[in-house]
Parts: sequence; C-alpha cells; structure tokens
Amino acid sequence: MPPQDPATTTATTTATTTADVVSPTDVLPDVDSVRTILAGVMDPELRASIVDLGMVRDISVATDGVVTVQVALTTLGCPLQAEIRREIKNKVTALPGVSDVAVRWAEMTSEEKATVMVRARRNARANAPDTMVAPSTRVITIASGKGGVGKSSVTVNIAAALASRGLRIGVLDADIWGFSVPRMLGVDGRLSGADGKIHPNRRLIDGGGELEVVSMGFLVEDEGSALMWRGLMLNKAVEQFLTDVRWAEDLDYLLIDMPPGTGDVQMGLARMLPQAEMIVVTTPTIAAQRVAARVADMARKSDMVVLGVIENMSELVTPGGERIAVFGSGGGAALAKDIGVPLIAQIPLEPLVSEGGDNGMPIALSAPDSAAGQVFTQLATLIATELLPPIEMVGCTARILEAAANNLRDADARSAAQTATQTAT
Ligand SMILES: Nc1ncnc2c1ncn2[C@@H]1O[C@H](COP(=O)(O)OP(=O)(O)OP(=O)(O)O)[C@@H](O)[C@H]1O
Ligand SMILES: [Mg+2]
Repeated sequence: MPPQDPATTTATTTATTTADVVSPTDVLPDVDSVRTILAGVMDPELRASIVDLGMVRDISVATDGVVTVQVALTTLGCPLQAEIRREIKNKVTALPGVSDVAVRWAEMTSEEKATVMVRARRNARANAPDTMVAPSTRVITIASGKGGVGKSSVTVNIAAALASRGLRIGVLDADIWGFSVPRMLGVDGRLSGADGKIHPNRRLIDGGGELEVVSMGFLVEDEGSALMWRGLMLNKAVEQFLTDVRWAEDLDYLLIDMPPGTGDVQMGLARMLPQAEMIVVTTPTIAAQRVAARVADMARKSDMVVLGVIENMSELVTPGGERIAVFGSGGGAALAKDIGVPLIAQIPLEPLVSEGGDNGMPIALSAPDSAAGQVFTQLATLIATELLPPIEMVGCTARILEAAANNLRDADARSAAQTATQTAT
C-alpha cells in the first residue's frame, strides 16, 4: 500500500483517493538519488568518485525532468572535461524521469584544490580494502537473462580483442558453478597466493596486451565439484574475487562474465563496483530478447548503466558467403530500442567461435579476418575509442600532482644540500 500524504487522507469522503494518481513529480528522481548515481563517476586522474572528492557542488531537478549538476574542477581548462561530462550524462540519464542533463563547470580555489588532493589520497587508501579493483579500471559486466546465448564467448573475445590493442584486461568469471572462461581462453593452473592475496592467472597477447584471469575453475578440480558449492557461496565467491584478488593497479578494463539470469550477484556487483557498466547479450529470437529485457531492468534498478546490446548468433555465414538467419532476426534491434541503448554489434554464427572456445583460441585472436573475428575487432575499437575509452593518467590534475611532487623533491634536495654544507662547515 503506497503511503498517503495528509492532504489525501483528509479528503477521503469520496470513494477514491488521489494516492493512486501518479503525478509527473512522482517519477522525478530526488537530489539524493542523483548524488548516489554520481558517486559512480570517477575523476579520471584522481581515481576517486567526484562525489567523494567533493567536486559536486550543486544538483537540481526541474519539474520537466532536466537535471543540472554543477561540478568544480581543479582547472577549468581541464582536457578531461568532456569525459567527465559524458560520464555524468550517461549515469544520470539512466535514472527514471530524467529528460536531460546539464553540466555546469566551476573552478576550485587553491584551498579547495589542496583539500581535494588530500581527499583523493585518503580515498585511495580507504577504498583499498573494499575491492582490489582500481577506481581507474573500467568495469563491464556481460549479462543476459537466458543461458547459452554466448555471454562467455563474447566476454573472452572482447577481452582478447581489447588486449590485442595493447591494453591490460582482467576477466572475472562470475559464473561460479558453470565456469567456462579458463577453457575458452586456454588459461590453466591453480591460482597462486602471496601476501594474503590471490594472484590472477596470466596470458600475454600479441600486440603487447595482457589478460589477467580469475575463475572458480582455477580453484576446484572439475565442474562437478564446483556444483557442490552452489548456493552456499555464490555471492561470497564473487565478492572475494573482488576483494581478495590482487588485480593489476593499471588494469584498463575488467570484464565480468555473468552467470545466466538476474539476481543477487548483479546487485552485489553494482554495490561493490560503482563504476560498473553493462553489456546485454541476446540472440535474434524474441524469447531471448524478453528475458534479456529483465536483466536490463535489473541494471537500472541497481543504477548500472547499460552500454549497449550485442546480438549474437545473428546469421550463419556459409563458406560461399550466403547469410542464413538461423534463429530469426530483429531480436537485438528490438531489445536495444526497448531499453533505449544502441545495438553495438551483431555477431554471426560461425563454427570457429565455438571451436576457438573449445581449444582456448578465441576467434578474435586466431582468425581476426573471419566474419565474427572482424565484428569482435570492430567492437573492441568502438569500446576503446567511443563507448568507454580507458581512463588515461595524463591531464590537468595529474600534472598538478606531478608538479607538486617535483617541487617537494627539489625542496628535499635543497634542504639535504643545506644540511650537508652546514655539517661540512
Ligand atoms: N557466434 C557464435 N557462433 C557459433 N557458436 C557460438 C557463437 N556464440 C556462442 N557459440 C557457442 O554457443 C555455446 C554457448 O555459448 P556460451 O557458452 O558463450 O554462452 P553463455 O551465454 O555463456 O552460456 P551459459 O549461460 O551456459 O554461461 C557454446 O558452445 C559456444 O561455443
Ligand atoms: Mg557462460
């Protein structure tokens, strides 16, 4: 029963009450929920949330759904303005009832800048025990409502294609009892531990990139014993993979292969990784699309931005170049339209995808010129250049920090020289 406001309860002489009528303001987000979602926007250089850093000065929500956010930057000419604006718009637009987002900039005073630096460092320390994933790591969860649509194949191939660009990619197999990532990436062996932390298994990729992989498959003997853990520790296991695994500090992306369906894992991830965004995989069949729509709904409920939809097994390409829509067509486009995000790739049905999965050679690496290989390469380019480019450590604040560090070093050197002269005389 929805709570009734006093005006409504005193007017109950008529049979119906106005409590059931949804006024436009009912669907507007309040300032607090805007602030909560902004906590997921990272300052690319300070590697901390713009909310935690105190950079969000003002938030207002107009009755027409336009949200205005005022953000104070260390310097107005900051070249990362566009990126911060994009992140703010992406996140806030995902809230129900938001029609547009305006970002206004302000410049910090020198005292504010100093405070922000201190906060950034304190945050860096305070964040460490929560998850071992650096705030500067882009996190993408690959999800779908239905099993068997190709989440794991998509995850490993995007990971491989991104690593071929020279990037460092983490792959977390969150499918605890149905893990398939180790086999698909051809990564094997028990996880090693040191200093109380688990170290991921690694695979170097031509082009200078590297994959860091963690899966339940590295902890149990076979898929049968993984099943025994079912339910007991699903959530805990994923949580531990985030808190107890020493992911590289300079990981550009962490891709998370989700178990089929929706639920607690999703919510848990969203809570632990405020920067996580989602890609939804579907097949061209309408049934898969409906289930996938539920995942997208869950994403919104947990304040996760959906980057886009991937339609997998779109068409079978015969050796002669003929295209056959084995599973029908239109599911991906319909889902993308449904949830208001772009359809970012259509991956053809190709035996090499499945063969590559069986022998640890993702098609993005073994046959980048094949029909599916090309789509994965293009998808990696789209992600790395437009959808969610890696967070670079160059720019305004980094330069300020560097300058400050240099000055301190110079000052230290000067005082050391002075002490040496005094001792000598
Ligand atoms: N584009 C494709 N062309 C051919 N085979 C594919 C393609 N995509 C996936 N497959 C095959 O379909 C099967 C299911 O794919 P995959 O395991 O990636 O799906 P999933 O969504 O991760 O499944 P689960 O829900 O069980 O985790 C696998 O055998 C895989 O090799
Ligand atoms: Mg899978």
